Amino acid sequence: MVYLVNCASCHNADPRLPGSVGPPIAGSPRALVEARVLHRSYPPAYVPKRSTHLMRPMPWLAPQIGNLTAYLQAAATGDTADDPR
Ligand code: HEC
Repeated sequence: MVYLVNCASCHNADPRLPGSVGPPIAGSPRALVEARVLHRSYPPAYVPKRSTHLMRPMPWLAPQIGNLTAYLQAAATGDTADDPR
């Protein structure tokens, strides 16, 4: 839910696929999700998939970083409970 509401508009309802403006982000590690969503930054030494700066910080999602990371990990491994595949 948190992903669909806040992220899917730019990325994709399926995070393994590129979105309207954002790259695929399935499997993103927690440090990357936290850096992007809260600080609009990247972890040290991380090479971004895109060199654009379109994504805005969403600091109110701080309590959801764990859930978002778990969802993106599950999407990468095909292990989502509500996945229709
Ligand atoms: C306004 C559109 C937009 C929204 C909303 C958005 N993103 Fe992004 N995201 C982008 C774009 C575009 C990039 C590529 C870098 C940039 O331009 O900022 C990106 C990059 C990322 C990356 C880094 C990808 C990589 O490996 O380089 C992650 C992780 C990410 N977004 C996660 C999220 C999550 C999680 C949410 C929801 C909480 C979200 N984004 C919401 C547009 C968006």
